[in-house]
Amino acid sequence: MRLLLCGAAGFIGSHFARIRLEEHGDEVVVLDRLTYAGREENLRDLREHSGFAFLRGAIEDREAVEAAVQGCDAIVNFAAETHVDRSIAEPDAFVTTQVMGTYVLLEAARERGLRYLQVSTDEVYGSIEHGAFTERSPLEPSSPYSATKAGADLLVGSYFHTFGLPASTCRGSNNYGSHQYPEKLIPLMILNALHGDPLPVYGDGLQVRNWIHVTDFARAIGCVLERGRPGEVYNAGGPDECANIEIVQRIVQLTGAHESLIEHVRDRLGHDRRYSLSSERVRALGWAPRVRLHDGLARTVAWYRDNAWWWEPIRSGAYRSYYERQYGRALTAAPRSASAPLP
Ligand code: NAD
Ligand code: TYD
Repeated sequence: MRLLLCGAAGFIGSHFARIRLEEHGDEVVVLDRLTYAGREENLRDLREHSGFAFLRGAIEDREAVEAAVQGCDAIVNFAAETHVDRSIAEPDAFVTTQVMGTYVLLEAARERGLRYLQVSTDEVYGSIEHGAFTERSPLEPSSPYSATKAGADLLVGSYFHTFGLPASTCRGSNNYGSHQYPEKLIPLMILNALHGDPLPVYGDGLQVRNWIHVTDFARAIGCVLERGRPGEVYNAGGPDECANIEIVQRIVQLTGAHESLIEHVRDRLGHDRRYSLSSERVRALGWAPRVRLHDGLARTVAWYRDNAWWWEPIRSGAYRSYYERQYGRALTAAPRSASAPLP
């Protein structure tokens, strides 16, 4: 297949691109706007591959989409503004990318009769105290991020029902692994712990997330692309649930940092207490997660420890002012050089 992967310079899409090129022999065209979260470095090892092409452009830009989609058999849409805290501070881009962008991609798929796969999130269901969400659970998103993702999912469903577009949706739980931008819980805590910076836990830290390793989610998306039924939604949840504070304590142990770095800070507005997904439908297609949180987290800490080349430009750039705005404090003043040993 020749796949148009939108937003694949980001965390999950870049893992998906690698797996499809290297394990499935697909051709891959990446269309990405390269926002603060999109990084060509994430695709660095794929650039020499004969089946790989990269185009810089926004999914809400019809001309950019027209140029990228030529000759493709399917569109997989990863492109999104993805951070809940940023959606609370500045929701504008979330509406444009999630809603307008998805609409433009759906139109491009409809004109050509292409297979379409929307990458979505468990957050569209809202928070659940007990049990797990199925694909039939109502959508009750809490944040501007999850509300705009839910809006996009509903548009995708409407293109199947109204126009017969062969479109499916795959909703993942919280992903972690290498190449994740350090605004998200796990990489933020790893890098702060390695630098001796405070570890800011929102509220009581007892919020629970259902963690999935990024390669497991990428494989679930591939499974839905190949074997999923058009018009269907598929949940892909990870094998382990964990309270935030336990994740942070484990990172403290793995990095050798001091537990006194943990600080409980003001809670996130509208903070969802717990996410949990039932994944029976995608399991029936032959998918199962392979990576347990205990091992995956240790591997992720090792990756960040060994790949300062990847995160140094982030930590010494615009991320610093984002961090100050979000946390009301600065990171350690002098960024380490890539050659300096970490503690
Ligand atoms: P990310 O923030 O790492 O990457 C998003 C990518 O989209 C970046 O490369 C960015 O440049 C690109 N992008 C943003 N706006 C764009 C636009 N208008 N046009 C083109 N490209 C644009 O995100 P991620 O964590 O890799 O998430 C990928 C997808 O998976 C998203 O749709 C997200 O909602 C979904 N998802 C994420 C998680 C998670 O835990 N990270 C869990 C479930 C689902
Ligand atoms: P995050 O990685 O932003 O993912 P999401 O909000 O999509 O679940 O956050 C995961 C959990 O960690 C969430 O409950 C919020 C919490 N959190 C903190 O306690 N401190 C932080 O600095 C961040 C970024 C998140």
